[in-house]
Amino acid sequence: MTTPILLLGAGRMGGALIEGWAKAGAFAAGDLIVRDPAATAAAFPGAQVNPSLEALSAARTVLLAVKPQIWRQAVADVVPHLAPDAVIVSIAAGVRAADISEAFGGRAVARVMPTTAVAVGLGTASIYAATAQARARAHALLAPVATVVDLEDEGLMHAATAVSGSAPAYLYAFIEALEAAGAGQGLTPEDAARLARSTIVGAAALLGQGGEDPAELRRQVTSPGGTTAAALSVLMGEGGFGDLLPRAMAQAVKRSEELGG
Ligand SMILES: NC(=O)c1ccc[n+]([C@@H]2O[C@H](COP(=O)([O-])OP(=O)(O)OC[C@H]3O[C@@H](n4cnc5c(N)ncnc54)[C@H](OP(=O)(O)O)[C@@H]3O)[C@@H](O)[C@H]2O)c1
Repeated sequence: MTTPILLLGAGRMGGALIEGWAKAGAFAAGDLIVRDPAATAAAFPGAQVNPSLEALSAARTVLLAVKPQIWRQAVADVVPHLAPDAVIVSIAAGVRAADISEAFGGRAVARVMPTTAVAVGLGTASIYAATAQARARAHALLAPVATVVDLEDEGLMHAATAVSGSAPAYLYAFIEALEAAGAGQGLTPEDAARLARSTIVGAAALLGQGGEDPAELRRQVTSPGGTTAAALSVLMGEGGFGDLLPRAMAQAVKRSEELGG
């Protein structure tokens, strides 16, 4: 049994999961228990919002979705009230499975690094779990709303965070820069924004249809000696993506390791 699911924290990411589950018809609102000081019953219709501590013993799965800085306090408040066989699925960035399991009195733990696109059923989730039961539970929560990648080594969560969890922000930053550069070439900011956003969404949809590698898709739209090739000579040349991305990844991995303590 996966449900009821207790969400410890229902902010940006917990809320995105609830939205995605509703759209996918994965879990009924009545199967959700939300514990979050900022949550209201109106925001999560049909769910139990901030019920008594005694009500938490019904939860079969606990989704730990508070900020990493406060996870220990959030867990300490509820742990005496949980069922002994409740399984923990944590999305707290950087916090190790062994530390979470210890704080939860030895219960089985899966770690997940999701992306906010779970809200529209197009999320991505990296999963690490020490036990098959916890891994299966994480799959039950994430597979309805995300492409799931299983990691065998917990240490790889740092890399998965750098390549996936943090990457939507890289793309948004790229689009911001593309829009600004378009305006710099004389387009109105509105036109530059419409062109850049629509183009990226369309290109991502083509990639999402599957089959071809990004490198092949790039070749298909790059005529030798043409305009695209001229721009790519900068973007893929010295100091371009091939230099920038490894440096950016290294910074993200370092920060993830620091946060994990
Ligand atoms: N956002 C992302 O893209 C993303 C991606 C992958 C993983 N994550 C992970 O997801 C987790 C949550 O991030 P977020 O962006 O969703 O943060 P968030 O928007 O701040 O949500 C956390 C929620 O938890 C609430 N909260 C605070 N103390 C609590 C307690 N003791 N018990 C229960 N709830 C409590 C907060 O309420 P207050 O606002 O009143 O403090 C807030 O509503 C983090 O660990 C992060 O590493 C996020």
